[in-house]
Amino acid sequence: MRNYILPVMLLLTSLVQAQSLVPLIPAPARLELRSGQFIIDPGTTLRYDAAQPELRRIAGWFSDAVHRISGLRLAQQRSGGRSISLKLKLNDGLGSEGYRMEVTPAQVSIEASGPAGVFYALQSVLQTLPGIRTNAPMSVPCMSVEDKPRFGWRGLHLDVSRHFFGPEVIRQYIDLMARYKMNRFHWHLTDDQGWRMQIDRYPELTRIGAWRVDQTHLVWGSRPQAQPGQTPDYGGFYTKEQLRELVAYARDRNVVIVPEIEMPGHSSAAIAAYPALSCTRIPQLPMTGGDYKGISSNFCAGNDSVFTFLEGVLTEVMDVFPSQYIHIGGDEVDKGPWKRCDRCQARMKKEGLKTEEELQSWFIRRIEKFIVSKKRRMIGWDEILEGGLAPTATVMSWRGEAGGIEAAKMDHDVVMTPGSPCYFDHYQAGPEGEPRAIGGMNTLRKVYDYEPVPAELAGDRAKYVLGAQANVWTEFITTPEHLEYMILPRMPALSEVLWSPKERRDWPDFNTRLQSHLRYFRQNALHHSNGNFTVQIKPVPQNGKLMVSLSTEAYRGEIRYTLDGSDPTVTSPKYEGPFPVTASGELRAVTVLDGEVMGTRSARQSFSFHQGTGSTVRYKEPYSGSYPASGPMALADGIRGVHGVGSYWHGFAGRDLEATMDMGSTREISRIALGCMQRYNDWIFMPASVRMEVSDNGTDFTEVGLIQNPVSQEERNSVIRDFEVKFPARKARYVRVTARAIPGIPKGHPGEGKPAWIFADEIVVE
Ligand code: ACM
Ligand code: ZN
Repeated sequence: MRNYILPVMLLLTSLVQAQSLVPLIPAPARLELRSGQFIIDPGTTLRYDAAQPELRRIAGWFSDAVHRISGLRLAQQRSGGRSISLKLKLNDGLGSEGYRMEVTPAQVSIEASGPAGVFYALQSVLQTLPGIRTNAPMSVPCMSVEDKPRFGWRGLHLDVSRHFFGPEVIRQYIDLMARYKMNRFHWHLTDDQGWRMQIDRYPELTRIGAWRVDQTHLVWGSRPQAQPGQTPDYGGFYTKEQLRELVAYARDRNVVIVPEIEMPGHSSAAIAAYPALSCTRIPQLPMTGGDYKGISSNFCAGNDSVFTFLEGVLTEVMDVFPSQYIHIGGDEVDKGPWKRCDRCQARMKKEGLKTEEELQSWFIRRIEKFIVSKKRRMIGWDEILEGGLAPTATVMSWRGEAGGIEAAKMDHDVVMTPGSPCYFDHYQAGPEGEPRAIGGMNTLRKVYDYEPVPAELAGDRAKYVLGAQANVWTEFITTPEHLEYMILPRMPALSEVLWSPKERRDWPDFNTRLQSHLRYFRQNALHHSNGNFTVQIKPVPQNGKLMVSLSTEAYRGEIRYTLDGSDPTVTSPKYEGPFPVTASGELRAVTVLDGEVMGTRSARQSFSFHQGTGSTVRYKEPYSGSYPASGPMALADGIRGVHGVGSYWHGFAGRDLEATMDMGSTREISRIALGCMQRYNDWIFMPASVRMEVSDNGTDFTEVGLIQNPVSQEERNSVIRDFEVKFPARKARYVRVTARAIPGIPKGHPGEGKPAWIFADEIVVE
């Protein structure tokens, strides 16, 4: 037995070590570590067929990269000695981006079907070398690698409308993408707050549409709209020459730039330049950063000259960007202006369109025809499904995955970019202690655990999922440093999701490899997050005891906590495993990394301790799906709900709550309460009544109180109320609580007559 198990364990250990000892991200499809090293030094030669211009170019790029970190100029094409050899050789199994690499002490031998594969093999080599110029030897571990991507679309997006980032920043963005084998740069070039591409036919787009009154000292959303006479002094745009240079720069790094020109909404910068493009035709100033009344954001769908304009713009876009895909936006169109516009209404009549959604669909189809006529493909946000999907459109699913699933079921290609976890404008570690973000929380782990092929599309529909993409909207991102922080290290995590075989994904191993990348970021002054350091506090009731478990995503992060309401420091008790909470109070916890408290505010949770805390609770019918609170024991977890936060509340949709608490032993009790919340606007109402019963044996119950709802159903403010009974002290082990739902939502409410929700947080027993 022992003899049998030992070698297997050794084998497993060495496989895992092979991955983590060679810190490649994304993890290669197959890697075998060998003993020894290949040393890059003045005796090393770069060898390739110089008649192949692509290889010459890649060799030049690699040689520059080695020079930057060593000062060494690699000899090229010298015969004899140790060499790095690059070969293009058709190999069906590896696709156009895969490669095979054998590293021995004498040679690094790279073969790939296409230049992208050679480029990626050399990126893998670079990831094993020092990140900056040092005196350390430049050694590549001996290994055998066979590698190719899981998905063809490995995307990263950037919004340069909300805040502008110059060509230098874009080059660095592309370099970072390429380091992690990401290959689609979705460039959001136009939006309400700025038009960023030179268009020769329409010079006002950049003369006027690229500039707004500077409000960067104010938080996005609180920036007042500019007034006539103010100087538009914030903005910028890319000239065609700059764009062409960047397209070539990206192409040399196997990155395709997918340009996005937003339509028919998010277009107020273009309308500021050419007011006749809108339904109202009223002149306006470029928007500064907020929602303003009276500003037109939509192109008029009833005006043919709008299409002349858009076709002219798209012609110049396609002239600069060779990308097969052209992104036309299509998201978040407020249909109101079209409803009020005679021309739009006339268009609907003429084309037999019944709704404004169909008008949007008609608009997009018309643009699609034009794009297809130029031998390109159209991609748009998932709203282009509404009113009917254009025949050849590819859908970018951002409002969750539903749009992507729907499109794939109609045999359309899709790119997944659901807000959770693909929006990199969300927090990753905070919010406290992080730069202000738009909201939400997409942690490193959440990104790493993402699976781009939803279960509904398993089997032969999986092929419609081209890949996934992270989106970086820049309302709150004003500097290149902040931009780096938002993508690092989440982009490397996504790169592994998109490149590596699903079965190679391994969170602990990823974290081990990530350490060398974090060092690279530090050495190169790249801003980045240290992973999610906000401590997650999870109550776990257990046999009548309330246990609490704490966790942090931060690699090698320690958790320190207090139970007295003070802020933990590096010397506070260290979390070693779930511990019991035995009294009411506030738990605070922080992540400590390398001797430093991360973040500026501790994670906090108050516990109110009572006789029933930690008890087992059984339900006649379970709580409703999306409102589990802390889980099946939520009514005994000592956590009281608060206003405005759904996650503390157990929800019961349109039915009674009947729960029986078993305290595990007979206790003397004299008060029972059920905490409930009413939120009129969210269809949540107090129960009509709550009955309290007690029992010694769990079978025979005695009623100790029946409380009628004291709260008005008309109350529009959020109300939290304990339904409470007090009685002379008596012994009991079981408590049963039955909250009756009201028969339907009251008259005058938008949901009149429909089922109401009950929200409850705790059965308090004293
Ligand atoms: C989007 O986030 N509006 C596509
Ligand atoms: Zn109109």
